[in-house]
Amino acid sequence: RMFKRQMVCRRDIERFNRSFLAIYESLIPPEEEKEKQKQLLTMLEKLVNKEWPEARLFLYGSCANSFGVSKSDVDVCLAIEDGDTRKSEILLRLADILQSDNLQNVQALIRARVPIVKLMDPASGISCDICINNVLAVVNTKLLRDYAQIDVRLRQLAYIVKHWAKSRAVNETYHGTLSSYAYVLMCIHFLQQRRPAILPCLQRMEATYSVTVDGVQCAYFDQVEKLQGWGSRNRETIAELVWGFFYYWAYCHDYANTVASVRMGRTISKREKDWTRRVGNDRHLICIEDPFEVSHDLGRVVDKFSIRVLREEFERAADIMQHDSNPCGTLFQPYVP
Ligand code: GTP
Ligand code: MG
Repeated sequence: RMFKRQMVCRRDIERFNRSFLAIYESLIPPEEEKEKQKQLLTMLEKLVNKEWPEARLFLYGSCANSFGVSKSDVDVCLAIEDGDTRKSEILLRLADILQSDNLQNVQALIRARVPIVKLMDPASGISCDICINNVLAVVNTKLLRDYAQIDVRLRQLAYIVKHWAKSRAVNETYHGTLSSYAYVLMCIHFLQQRRPAILPCLQRMEATYSVTVDGVQCAYFDQVEKLQGWGSRNRETIAELVWGFFYYWAYCHDYANTVASVRMGRTISKREKDWTRRVGNDRHLICIEDPFEVSHDLGRVVDKFSIRVLREEFERAADIMQHDSNPCGTLFQPYVP
């Protein structure tokens, strides 16, 4: 009887697997969209260089970290020697330049936590945010992209998790839930913990890439083409990993005492980071360490209300993966308040 039950489970997992892969494939942006993003970047760089010949533009965030779904906004970083000029002045000047070049909805948001200029390119319909000298974001974008090259299951898992988080309205930092960046780090952490591990810990390997940005040293092994197939001793499929991910964050993670650390490739204790109590607005109810800015907890936005929402959503997802006969249908059902 046991045997029969297991057979059924195995067949079901196979079937779910095909559905998850189909969802993953449907979310991948088509080549022509990538092409349009590049054209927009080239066009913006020309405009910027007329005013600041030395300045450069870098893509960061989901359009460059390989975790971007189709029709994502494009995140751009303007790298510029700013001398004594205030960021807000540069942004206002930038907004002027873009406005007079037919770009639409140009807006300078100079009071935001990360001040930006927003714009829309009418030719492609692409929306774009430009920030200034946020070089750490460019570097952590590279780290995520490098991890994605090691094992395709990371990209598959992160797409499914991001899609779930958006459907369930738990991808909204202004409502106390987590950023996409935090979810991708949670996925990397999870795959580093599998036995056998699916991902290595690049920051604990010999550094082949090293830069110092805003006083933070960022160093890790980035020759990831040498690591392809690194995790192939683990043969888990995407359906099993989706189930495992939600099960881990629902029932296994020790929220009270530990921090998920991609930098160390394991969980570390809250005590050693002094993240055991609330400091100012940072409550540390779910702790996800930024791989480079190690004093930075990406869970700091989560409050005592939203931690419950989050954990209930993890439990809901884990239970669906365990019991539902059509998990792909139920998992992504939009959250209705
Ligand atoms: P979507 O736009 O939702 O598809 O995802 P995204 O990858 O663009 O994520 P998000 O908008 O959350 O963040 C954009 C980029 O900003 C991330 O890829 C990171 O590089 C960077 N970033 C976001 N939040 C933080 C943060 O709290 N700390 C640091 N250092 N970087 C961050
Ligand atoms: Mg983005």
